[in-house]
Amino acid sequence: MANQAKHAIEVENLTKRYGNLLAVNGISFTVRTGEVFAFLGPNGAGKSTTVEIIDMIRRPTSGKVRLLGMDVTKKKRAIVPRIGVLPQDFSSFDRITVRETLQFYSRLFSRGNADIDGLIELVHLKDKAEEQYKNLSGGLQQRLGIAIALVNDPEVVFLDEPTTGLDPRARREVWEVLLGLKKQGKTIFLTTHYMEEAEILADTVAIISRGMIIATGSPAELIENNTNYLVLTLQSVDANVVEIIRKLGFEPVHDNHQDLKVRVEHTEDILKTLNAIKDAGGSFLSLDVRRPNLEEVFLKLTGEALHAGPAENGEVG
Ligand SMILES: Nc1ncnc2c1ncn2[C@@H]1O[C@H](COP(=O)(O)OP(=O)(O)OP(=O)(O)O)[C@@H](O)[C@H]1O
Ligand SMILES: [Mg+2]
Repeated sequence: MANQAKHAIEVENLTKRYGNLLAVNGISFTVRTGEVFAFLGPNGAGKSTTVEIIDMIRRPTSGKVRLLGMDVTKKKRAIVPRIGVLPQDFSSFDRITVRETLQFYSRLFSRGNADIDGLIELVHLKDKAEEQYKNLSGGLQQRLGIAIALVNDPEVVFLDEPTTGLDPRARREVWEVLLGLKKQGKTIFLTTHYMEEAEILADTVAIISRGMIIATGSPAELIENNTNYLVLTLQSVDANVVEIIRKLGFEPVHDNHQDLKVRVEHTEDILKTLNAIKDAGGSFLSLDVRRPNLEEVFLKLTGEALHAGPAENGEVG
């Protein structure tokens, strides 16, 4: 079937109820074969529930899910050998080395046929192959988790928050690995609450909030369709600058880094703002102009921040 080749995953009107809680509320979406699809949403949005229904760890309350063209509630045996899963909060055996761990999972899931050296290379763990799991940093442990998800050379890989809790550098190293997988043509279903991760990795992003998908598209489409402004950021502004900008009819806001952010619709408004500050004798240290990011799209659509607390890693909400 042509449809089968085009879409690796098809979800139709999926719901999941836990007692009184409707954790997933009638969602529908498709994932194209070979794309990186990211579920972006805050804690408790229903990301893991959805992923774990698709990868057959949990069962749906209602709705249809086809994975590789097959109904997940009926064809588990046929599907399992063709998918890989990195669950949220993955952990492995403390005293077993990287190589031994992969050999172990290969015996379980791949009749011992996995190319262990190839996998170790793919996740950049060559120097750590003989290291015990407990001695690996969080980022290295996650990369081992990704290698485990790949022992059966799956067509579709599910990664539930693969970089949560990692420092920015370790996160980037995981991204490198995932971009390598994408090059190999694997379909990747990722969940994350880091908008930067979705922006960098995903071909398609579905924004999920309270069990519902509230927007889907490429990162560029989501930004284009949901925002119509530019963000001017001024660093280290004089106290009087806020008043000057207000007089122009804009509403500046201080963000977590004590910078002043101004939303403007046109590039001319930026010149107008800078000139007004100069004419009034105000000053600032530096400036930055950018398109809105996914975090701002999320905020606009839900009225909530993706992150609780201060922004991380230079992300601003
Ligand atoms: N097995 C379960 N039994 C009861 N409630 C559950 C269960 N699993 C999840 N929930 C609830 O369902 C909602 C969605 O949870 P889920 O884990 O799918 O969200 P998530 O988007 O993955 O969140 P996080 O970013 O924290 O991982 C939450 O309110 C959660 O408490
Ligand atoms: Mg989760």
